[in-house]
Amino acid sequence: SIDRQEGAMVLPTKLILSTIHLVLLGVLLLLAGTSSFQCSSVDQATLLAIKKQWGNPWQLVSWDPVANADHCKWTGMVCGGGCSGAVTGISLPRLNLTGKVPESLCDLPSLSRLDLSYNNLTGGFPRGPLYNCSQLRFLDLSYNAFHGVLPHDISRLSPAMEHLNLSTNYFSGTVPAAVAGLPALRSLILDKNQFTGAYPAAEISKLARLEKLTLAFNPFVPAPAPLEFSKLTNLSYLWMGDMNMTGEIPKAYSSLVNLQMMAICENNLTGEIPAWVWQHPKLKYVYLFTNGLTGKLPRKITAVNLIELDVSDNQLTGEIPEEIVNLKNLSILFMYTNQLSGTIPASIAMLPNLRDIRLFENNLSGELPATLWSLPKLIILDILNNGFTGALPTKIPENIQWLDVGNNKFSGSLPTSATGLLVFSAANNLLSGELPADMSKFAKLTRLELSGNQLTGAIP
Ligand SMILES: *[C@@H]1O[C@H](CO)[C@@H](O)[C@H](O)[C@H]1NC(C)=O
Ligand SMILES: *[C@@H]1O[C@H](CO)[C@@H](O)[C@H](O)[C@H]1NC(C)=O
Ligand SMILES: *[C@@H]1O[C@H](CO)[C@@H](O)[C@H](O)[C@H]1NC(C)=O
Ligand SMILES: *[C@@H]1O[C@H](CO)[C@@H](O)[C@H](O)[C@H]1NC(C)=O
Ligand SMILES: *[C@@H]1O[C@H](CO)[C@@H](O)[C@H](O)[C@H]1NC(C)=O
Ligand SMILES: *[C@@H]1O[C@H](CO)[C@@H](O)[C@H](O)[C@H]1NC(C)=O
Ligand SMILES: *[C@@H]1O[C@H](CO)[C@@H](O)[C@H](O)[C@H]1NC(C)=O
Ligand SMILES: *[C@@H]1O[C@H](CO)[C@@H](O)[C@H](O)[C@H]1NC(C)=O
Ligand SMILES: *[C@@H]1O[C@H](CO)[C@@H](O)[C@H](O)[C@H]1NC(C)=O
Repeated sequence: SIDRQEGAMVLPTKLILSTIHLVLLGVLLLLAGTSSFQCSSVDQATLLAIKKQWGNPWQLVSWDPVANADHCKWTGMVCGGGCSGAVTGISLPRLNLTGKVPESLCDLPSLSRLDLSYNNLTGGFPRGPLYNCSQLRFLDLSYNAFHGVLPHDISRLSPAMEHLNLSTNYFSGTVPAAVAGLPALRSLILDKNQFTGAYPAAEISKLARLEKLTLAFNPFVPAPAPLEFSKLTNLSYLWMGDMNMTGEIPKAYSSLVNLQMMAICENNLTGEIPAWVWQHPKLKYVYLFTNGLTGKLPRKITAVNLIELDVSDNQLTGEIPEEIVNLKNLSILFMYTNQLSGTIPASIAMLPNLRDIRLFENNLSGELPATLWSLPKLIILDILNNGFTGALPTKIPENIQWLDVGNNKFSGSLPTSATGLLVFSAANNLLSGELPADMSKFAKLTRLELSGNQLTGAIP
């Protein structure tokens, strides 16, 4: 503890002093010891008051000094800091706690971390108790049933606040500019509420330390992506899905050099995907699905850290570029429901981590590269509704569990072995020949669709 450290530092100089001084020092140390004892018992009394205000819920049955004198061992406690036994954190997620946040919570003077996520807490934003938490740095109220407007003086939370998570509640009204009056914020998590109007983009863009920003799933008024957000150069996580965004993805966001996750899906974005997205050195996860994005995919693709790329459900045209081969870590490739044409480039087989390829509802054609079937981790291949030609392989590799090649122009005979397949659809092609007599090589199939072909034979 800090008291003891200071004691240890002064001790050597004090030792050479007179006995009177030594006696004085002893008294001082005694006082320090007493105050640390009082400090912890004060916190214990506060915890018991909090439990009572919460209505003595069964979830807090361990908060009982008779059964366990050390309150640091009670459910959800984190102790440490200034004096021994001081409560610095309360972590009570997923306990079905109900009611309001207890008024005495911030009578715990060292409380810096409060996690009440995934409960069933109600009431408005608990400003009363929380404004008194002068050390608060982390506040997680996500996944509860809080409602009402955020207070316009929410900046009265501790200036030390680094993480504010209000996700998945019923907060409504406009997001007050004061939310950006907490200069140390690193996370501002506001997704999945009922916020309306315009959000305070100019103020948020001044939060220089911001690393994680979510505004998704709120019925904001339609507006373009704020150019000011290009100042948030420390952002690594940006989620702005389903919030009525219009206009283009700003070219200016190329300044967000630390982005690892960008989700701007389910908006009304138009125009091309800017070049910086394809060249970003740190991006791992990019979700731009369900917008009105147009244009061709570029040839310059150097965003080598991409793991998941989803540009589905837009109006993209042109071909899938050969250069996709640069994305060595790509695991998920979703480009379905666009107007892509041309073939699947053979280089795709050199992406050893590909697990899930969905290219359905495009205008792709030609034969599938034979090497596609040797991708070692491929589980799902869905190319429904395109114009592919050629034959299917005789043996579908065991790692493939979901194969939909329906509504194409595949010809030749059916595969004779597909030991891993759970779902196989090849409906509406030009397949011919006999149905396999021995279905034991299709042992795991739960769904099989072969209508609209020229197949013969009896269904086994
Ligand atoms: C919370 O409630 C749900 C649904 O009533 C129940 O399934 C779950 O076990 C409860 N969790 C706890 C920690 O009591
Ligand atoms: C949360 O509270 C609501 C309303 O009181 C109730 O309908 C719901 O079942 C509760 N959920 C859980 C997980 O306890
Ligand atoms: C907050 O602290 C002030 C000053 O110590 C006190 O008067 C007030 O009652 C406290 N509010 C709550 C909700 O505990
Ligand atoms: C809420 O946000 C904080 C800060 O980003 C994060 O650490 C925490 O895991 C989030 N809570 C949930 C339930 O996801
Ligand atoms: C940005 O993040 C880096 C690394 O996390 C940190 O060192 C730096 O201080 C941050 N910049 C600001 C302005 O907070
Ligand atoms: C978009 O904005 C309109 C008008 O403000 C609103 O009615 C609608 O709920 C919003 N939609 C979404 C998906 O946010
Ligand atoms: C905006 O996008 C949503 C979902 O992406 C869609 O439901 C809505 O019709 C679009 N609104 C306009 C005005 O295009
Ligand atoms: C790919 O993933 C591996 C393992 O997670 C990682 O070491 C590597 O830096 C990533 N990026 C590239 C370009 O390989
Ligand atoms: C689809 O591609 C073919 C050539 O492969 C082309 O003739 C046709 O116009 C394309 N259709 C659409 C809707 O883009």
